[in-house]
Amino acid sequence: MIRKLLLIFGVLVFGATAASAQSCQDVINKRQDLMKKSAASGKIAAAMIRGQTPFDLAKAKQILAVFYNDASQLSVLFPDCSKTGEHTTVSPAVWEKPAEFKTRIDKYLADVKAAQKSTKDLATFKASIQAIGKDCSSCHQDFRVKRS
Ligand code: HEC
Repeated sequence: MIRKLLLIFGVLVFGATAASAQSCQDVINKRQDLMKKSAASGKIAAAMIRGQTPFDLAKAKQILAVFYNDASQLSVLFPDCSKTGEHTTVSPAVWEKPAEFKTRIDKYLADVKAAQKSTKDLATFKASIQAIGKDCSSCHQDFRVKRS
């Protein structure tokens, strides 16, 4: 009886460990997925700004919605268990300077929200994208390590 219980317990503990390791890679995958979607939207935005595709307000709003989706979830996508994992380019700076990292996320989110309000035409969209683009690159510079 005891043996059977221990066995069940063992399975449960093992199951729980496997699940938490798994869920952390999930978090890494999730944040990378959101970032990839932002990058894809950023390319569409750049094409509109360069005049390669015509400006379209509905599309511009969709792009900003993708950024918003990314920005609004970032604060919970860097738990301790996601410091290391497969294919991650996150820098330890995220956990060494948590206040600064939070400030960057907040600024990104604030800039995206402001862009959602102010974007009405190509000129306002361009200004918004420039501000957001700076948020992307400055955060990457300080909180991402280049894969080599
Ligand atoms: C607050 C910080 C921050 C902001 C702002 C930010 N990123 Fe990132 N980004 C990261 C971090 C950290 C990683 C590394 C994630 C990982 O590999 O675990 C990353 C990774 C990426 C990746 C690589 C994803 C992969 O599959 O490895 C792309 C592409 C990317 N970001 C695009 C963007 C774009 C475009 C923007 C702006 C619209 C942006 N990011 C804004 C922090 C940020």
